[in-house]
This record gives sequence, C-alpha cells and structure tokens, in this order.
Amino acid sequence: MSTLITNIGELVTNVPEASSADGGRGRDKGSGGGEDGSATSRADTRAAAGRFAALTSAALVMDRGLIVWTGEAAHAPAADERVDAEGRAVLPGFVDSHAHLVFAGERGAEFAARMAGLPYTAGGIRSTVAATRAASDASLAANLRKLAAEMLSQGITTFECKSGYGLTVADEARSVALAAQVTPEVTYLGAHVVPPEYESDPGGYVDLASGPMLAACAPHARWVDVFCERGAFDADQARAILAAGRAAGLEPRVHANQLGEGPGVQVAVEAGAASADHCTFLSDADVDTLAASGTVATLLPGVEFSTRQRYPDARRLLDAGVRVAIATDCNPGSCFTSSMPFCIALAVRDMHMTTQEAVWSATAGGARALRRDDVGHLGTGARADLIMLDAPSHAYLAYRPGVPQVASVWQGGSLVAGRAW
Ligand code: NIG
Ligand code: FE
Repeated sequence: MSTLITNIGELVTNVPEASSADGGRGRDKGSGGGEDGSATSRADTRAAAGRFAALTSAALVMDRGLIVWTGEAAHAPAADERVDAEGRAVLPGFVDSHAHLVFAGERGAEFAARMAGLPYTAGGIRSTVAATRAASDASLAANLRKLAAEMLSQGITTFECKSGYGLTVADEARSVALAAQVTPEVTYLGAHVVPPEYESDPGGYVDLASGPMLAACAPHARWVDVFCERGAFDADQARAILAAGRAAGLEPRVHANQLGEGPGVQVAVEAGAASADHCTFLSDADVDTLAASGTVATLLPGVEFSTRQRYPDARRLLDAGVRVAIATDCNPGSCFTSSMPFCIALAVRDMHMTTQEAVWSATAGGARALRRDDVGHLGTGARADLIMLDAPSHAYLAYRPGVPQVASVWQGGSLVAGRAW
C-alpha cells in the first residue's frame, strides 16, 4: 500500500533537488553541508557526499518500504493512503551510530558526584561490568528493548549497539547476540577496558579479546571497536585488536581522543575505520589526518554535557572538511540520554554547528559513519524511515530544546511510533 504525505512545510531530504521524481521542481531550501548547491543528475551521489537539502511546500510518497517520490506538493501523484502534514516538518529518521545499550545497573550516584566536582574516568565502566555479568539474559534483553523503544519513539530509526560490559567470552557473546536481535549494526567492544581479573596481565586480556572472545562474537557482529585511551588500551593493543577483528570479517571503528590527546584518531584512520568517535581532544595533525581520510568524526555532545568536559571543536573539523556525525553514545556512565534531539540542540548551541549541519550529522552523517547509503536521506529508493515533527522546520529541534516534538515515526514505510494519521 502506498502512502502520500502532503502539505509538508519543510521536507528535509539531504538530497539536492534533481533527484526528486518531479525533476527537481520542488524548491530547494539550501545547504549546510560542505558542497556547492547546484542541482545535477549526480544528486544521489552528492547526498552521500554530504549536503543538507530541504524542500518547502512538499510531499513524498512511500511504497513497499521505500521512498518512491518527493517533490512539490502540487505535483504529487495519488496514493492509496493520504496524510496531511498541515505544514509540519518531515525529516529522515535519525541514525544513531554510537550506543551502548546492553548493560545492567545504573550509575546515577556517579553522575551526581561528577556534578559535585569529581572528574569522569574510564574506571566507572567496571561497575557496569559487574552488574552486567550478574544479570540474567532476560533482564538484559528487557533493558535493551526498553532503550531501543525509547530511541524509536524519539525518532531514531537506525542505531548501532555495542557490547563491552561483559568482558568474558560468554558475557560478550551474549551481549552481541542480544544486540543482534534489535539491530543489524552490532559492534564487538570486548576491548572496552581491561577487566579487574586481568589487571596484572593486560596483554593476556588483549590476547583473549583478539582471540577466543572475538571468535565467539564475530558471527553476531558487523563492527569491531576499541577504546583507545589512557586507562583503557594503547595504540599497539588497539592495532592488534582491530587487525584481528578485520581478519574475522569485522569493520573497524574506534573510541578516540575522548579524555585527552592520544593516538586514537591516527590508529582509527590507519585501520581504515568507518568512524573515530568522541574526537574531543585533537591535535592539528589529527584534524589533517581525518580530513584526508574517509573516516567520519563522530561527535557525542551528550558526553561532554554529562561529564562537564569541554565540547569537541566541531567548527574546526567542519572547516577542515572532515565529515561529522552526531550520535547519542547512550550508556549508563558517560551519557545516559537516548535523545537525538537533545544532542542536536547541544551541537547547535554549544558546538556552534548550524541547525542544518547538526541535522545532517544526525541523519546522513550517522549513515556515513555506518557505511549505509539506504538511510539518513529521503532520496528516491531510500528506506522509508522518516519522522514528522510537531513543528514547521528542523530548526525547532534546537530552538525548542527539551520539548518532545517528534510527532510520528515511520520505519520501512510503517508507522511505528507516535500519532496515527
Ligand atoms: O563512549 N568511552 C568509553 N565508553 C563509553 C563510556 C562507558 C561508561 O562510562 O560506562 C563512552 O563514553
Ligand atoms: Fe561510547
């Protein structure tokens, strides 16, 4: 059954106008990404290359789970079902390329202590590891599904999910297996921290994480990740684990430069990682290396909010031509938010991104960080993953911070959350 959504005040497509099925007669509302604005027949390629684009007075048609038409409402074709957006904004569903949702327990007291002046350290991860190991499969699955539903209701239609709070072969294997039940974007993060029982033998833990643990997890995962940071894993350890992951068929991504300058970004780019995540403390060489690479810089402003660290310098990255994604990093320690609108508001207010850049980074940027070209945009042929805001433009996501504005969520063409029309 086909669905027409019409009378859309602003339709964020992330596809310059020529790829609309009406030949681009919809009015393109301009850019915020990096490239020039002329419409060409290379539109879909250019969307993947990174440019915010939106139409006004627009409509879209979805059929069998895909976007089949976008353009000016006046030229919209008929469909089986018709939704009147009454001037609201429609955007691609958010693509959250960084989340840690398989865990038990909570660290509210740790957060409160931070707000009272204590610093964030990697060591807090170990308390979640203890709780996760002690939890039943059923309770881990229930918590995971609750958080996934929370994300969906706020417009995240694609998310990545990491292991990393098990840190035994069995606990990591069950973490990735559970994650695989809720998303195809599963990341093996056995190298999150060295668990207490290996404290005196970190090399032995690297052997485990790049050997039997990886072997048990690889069948359920697409990605391999390492927390390359002081207090976690150094450059050589990270290289060894990423290389082993690649040999097992996993694609690399790296937690890099979160707590201080260090080798994370260089290790990520050298490994051909899809993304270097955090990027809070970067040298000029790190920025140059990212700009010359295909590695996305994934910024996680909720972490800086929740740890009171300084924010990453998004402008420095964007001005250097680095591809930037925004993700939630939803986890019980450094940032317990599942709200992409909140992260967008922080990116705009505190990282000085334009509203267009922030929305592109939370949609197409996240897709790029996951090497996905079927989501993060609403070009013809894209998955019909989209959200309608109870607001007339994408800018309201930052303009009205903290206000629930995601009115409806469609995933694969089906209404999955929010108001039915
Ligand atoms: O992305 N940096 C490492 N891992 C998580 C934090 C995990 C935790 O504190 O439990 C992060 O911030
Ligand atoms: Fe993380």
